[in-house]
Amino acid sequence: MKILVTGGAGYIGSHTVKELRRGGFETLILDNFSSGRRELVPGGEVVEAELLDLEAVRKVFKTHEVGAVIHFASLIQVGESFLNPRKYYRHNLVTSLNLLEASVEAGIRCFVFSSSAAVYGEPREIPIPESHPRHPLNPYGQTKHFIEIVLEDYRRAYGLESVVLRYFNAAGADPDGGLGELHEPETHLIPNILLSLLGRKPAFEVFGTDFPTPDGSAVRDYIHVTDLAAAHVLALKRLLSSGKSDIFNLGTGMGFSVLEVMKKAEEITGLKLPAVLRPRRRGDVPILLASKEKAERELGWKLPHSSLETIISTAWNWHSRRA
Ligand code: UFG
Repeated sequence: MKILVTGGAGYIGSHTVKELRRGGFETLILDNFSSGRRELVPGGEVVEAELLDLEAVRKVFKTHEVGAVIHFASLIQVGESFLNPRKYYRHNLVTSLNLLEASVEAGIRCFVFSSSAAVYGEPREIPIPESHPRHPLNPYGQTKHFIEIVLEDYRRAYGLESVVLRYFNAAGADPDGGLGELHEPETHLIPNILLSLLGRKPAFEVFGTDFPTPDGSAVRDYIHVTDLAAAHVLALKRLLSSGKSDIFNLGTGMGFSVLEVMKKAEEITGLKLPAVLRPRRRGDVPILLASKEKAERELGWKLPHSSLETIISTAWNWHSRRA
């Protein structure tokens, strides 16, 4: 039986495929390569197919023995989702509904879904527990929230059990050096800092210096992508053995401001970062921190790679080698 991984040629997907294969699972990547990259495929079978094409998705289940599904494939840019919501509703909702349709038809009972801290909106409580109310502030977050609701209904109606994983800020790169972050355009903090340090991007822009935080810049919970990938393997194993649906935050519970991340990157690289101050980005909240207790307790999750030092050093290794 194979684990079908949609978006397995993407950033978090490829690191997870690597961890799955290390854990003895056979994988089948389904990717349309709109943002996934062949060079990020860590091994195993790959099908190039479009999740918007229900017949093509059905065919994948008919021609392969799929035991469980991990669904990463998604558009991820919050800013773009404000400007072009129909693209987000079409690509994140229709695709997920097609995948769920084909999964139910094929009798799949285990489904792992990539959700996001974006489902919480402006936190009322820090660190944010899984029970926190969900009020997404952007179309991207709405799409994740909606699929979470669909999964609850599909569990009740069709016995499709799922684990929802709500990511905080995925960052860093494979410590072995083979995989890393490659978004086009790149909008995330750490790669943008490193690409500016490498001279591959113009001056780094600090979005917002008037947040109600100690230094005025936004605070986020950066989680190393390898630790994030390991959580998927643990969640899948638990789902396969217990058949019990659940929801987990994946973050460290530790926060760093934009200015603190910049300083750490300068320290690690020994380079001076050219930076300009800009207004806040639309929809950015001042602070997002995960409560990670549930994932540690229930999954036995550990985070050996998620110090800011390791996150930035592994990302620097990846970006500087590519440059
Ligand atoms: N930032 C900058 N300059 C940049 C890029 C980012 O100052 O060039 C700031 C942002 O304004 C934000 C912080 O750095 O305050 C982190 O920004 P990211 O874009 O790296 O991450 P976000 O917290 O905005 O977004 C992440 C995920 C989204 C998810 C969101 C909420 O990338 O998919 O968390 O959970 F929706």
